[in-house]
Amino acid sequence: MLNVAIIGAGVGTSHLAGFAELPDSYTVKTICDLDQERGRALADTQPGIGYTASMAKVLADPDIDLVDICLPPHLHFSACMDALEAGKKVICEKPLVASLRDADRLAEKVGQTGGFLSPVFQYRFGLGTAQLRALMDAGLAGRAYAGTLETHWNRDAAYYAIPWRGTWAGEQGGAMLGHAIHIHDLLPMALGPVDQVYADLGTRVNEIEVEDCAALSIRMKSGALITSSVTLGCAEDTSRMRLMFEGFTVESDQAPYSLANKAWRFVARPPTEQSQIDQVLADVGPVLSGYAGMFDAIKRKLDGEDAPYVTLDAGRQSLEFVTAAYGSARSGLPVSLPLGPDHAMYDGWVP
Ligand SMILES: NC(=O)c1ccc[n+]([C@@H]2O[C@H](COP(=O)([O-])OP(=O)(O)OC[C@H]3O[C@@H](n4cnc5c(N)ncnc54)[C@H](O)[C@@H]3O)[C@@H](O)[C@H]2O)c1
Repeated sequence: MLNVAIIGAGVGTSHLAGFAELPDSYTVKTICDLDQERGRALADTQPGIGYTASMAKVLADPDIDLVDICLPPHLHFSACMDALEAGKKVICEKPLVASLRDADRLAEKVGQTGGFLSPVFQYRFGLGTAQLRALMDAGLAGRAYAGTLETHWNRDAAYYAIPWRGTWAGEQGGAMLGHAIHIHDLLPMALGPVDQVYADLGTRVNEIEVEDCAALSIRMKSGALITSSVTLGCAEDTSRMRLMFEGFTVESDQAPYSLANKAWRFVARPPTEQSQIDQVLADVGPVLSGYAGMFDAIKRKLDGEDAPYVTLDAGRQSLEFVTAAYGSARSGLPVSLPLGPDHAMYDGWVP
């Protein structure tokens, strides 16, 4: 059983619901938020949860095993470093940090302290991704040829009224960093490493500093060719992933914030037969989705199981993709991965 403090009561509300699905693994002891009214209101939704405005108090509390950071992006790096230094296990919302250098510093700190840090990518967890994994494990996928990704969401002025949003200083990026990061994280999970990214970015929907539209052309190391379309100006919120493998075509659900929760559609491609696909799918599930699935994988990993928790490396990989996209958009040229300390944007993409 791990005792948890949730730092930040915005998306922290969804985290609390996720932990509540796992009462044998986690007890949320504290909600921490500078905004007393907001923090207390969340703490009061369940019995036995305390409230504090002070993260320093949380870090000094020996009863807290795990600190779950749901703060605005520009606070993630310092909060993660402080929590690791205090000997806490750490979960941190996306985007983990705003540069590859800071991601590497976090990895160093984890190494020095023997600590644990898992970035948030809750889209990875659900029936759809479990089905895809099962079909790949059964050897039915074969080579991946091509695919399309869509992050077509709607965000208006009310969304951008929160001061940190829409700014380089507060949000540290736009739709590439804050919205499409989820679906782009699914790519290496499904297809292995990214080889090259070409990106065209634009601010077309809202009066903000950062981008809210993007068109990307992505080549995987396997050779698979992917396009990704991103906008915050769609009439409704939909996400979708379509991947064409040798053995089948998969189309995800379209739920924007829980892409993997429901079953995905798998259509066999000859000589693979639909009955082979259906036979594998019949044995998948039930599985925990979203935050609960993610927290469950973390607990199982900490208990010594080989669980598919989100690694710090996966967090770095997603930032490498973001770095490549900003690098490409600014140079007008494709950017090849991986990116190390010698890359011009190793210290970040924020202008
Ligand atoms: N994974 C997802 O699907 C998802 C969804 C929404 C947001 N997010 C991410 O979660 C993070 C938070 O986003 P949000 O929408 O909840 O933001 P928010 O602004 O609504 O909430 C952040 C909270 O942090 C509090 N806070 C700020 N500084 C603090 C400090 N020093 N100590 C304690 N509390 C402090 C604020 O008072 C605020 O209540 C962002 O990184 C965002 O990108 C992820």
